Amino acid sequence: MTHRSIRGLTDEPISEETISRLLEAGVRAPNAGGFQNYALVVIDDVRILEKTDIEAPLAIAALADLHRTARWFALNDAPFHFDGPGSLAMAMWDAHIALHQIAIAAGALNLGTFYIGDVLAWDVRELLGAPKHIVPAGLLILGHPAEDPELRPRLPLEAIVHRNVYDDPNDEAIRTWYAKKDAEFDELEPAVQAELATLGITNRAQELALDCYTPEMIVGLDEAHVRVIQAAGFRLRARTG
Ligand SMILES: Cc1cc2nc3c(=O)[nH]c(=O)nc-3n(C[C@H](O)[C@H](O)[C@H](O)COP(=O)(O)O)c2cc1C
Repeated sequence: MTHRSIRGLTDEPISEETISRLLEAGVRAPNAGGFQNYALVVIDDVRILEKTDIEAPLAIAALADLHRTARWFALNDAPFHFDGPGSLAMAMWDAHIALHQIAIAAGALNLGTFYIGDVLAWDVRELLGAPKHIVPAGLLILGHPAEDPELRPRLPLEAIVHRNVYDDPNDEAIRTWYAKKDAEFDELEPAVQAELATLGITNRAQELALDCYTPEMIVGLDEAHVRVIQAAGFRLRARTG
């Protein structure tokens, strides 16, 4: 109930003891089949942090990792058919849960954290030396907080929650639920609004789709992510497909 992303962090390092506690909390996470098909890369090397434009003492990358299990299977003459989209999705799920368990533990220890979505485009073979069958899943930035932001708004529960069946909302419900987000546009400085208007942007949804998360940016992320998946040796189709 108190979660906030904290992006303002001091450069004070996080102690090794705390890092160990966070990692122990992370690996207690549930995981598909008991395989723990993920890896956690603790990043405190400034050369890597700088390369990725991160200004924080620590980052933890969660990788979907089928490599380690493949190695174990190979040592035991067990067949490896876990290089398809379902196995990858399951390993992504494992990685996300473990990383978020770390985020929650970090919050409980009064550390600040936030995620960075761009990690999905990371070439982890080049950047982190990862071998085949490893794909980036999530990146958590951690540090001692230098700010204490307010809770950020959420959509009302009824916009998110369904019971037993998915209740497709009508337009009026969508407008009601998104009214606060729509109002964010009216709060922009008139000069900013005028500049956006020259680009044909007259509301918050358009601003998000055309100015914040541009088609080029999102399509670029899609392309990079698919490239990363394929370069790691995963299939995007089932073997029979
Ligand atoms: C998958 C994912 C990707 C995110 N990527 C970024 C990011 O690249 N940069 C950033 O500053 N925050 C990022 N965030 C944090 C969100 O912006 C943040 O959770 C959201 O705005 C709600 O704010 P709150 O976490 O303070 O409640 C990401 C969060 C998630 C779950």
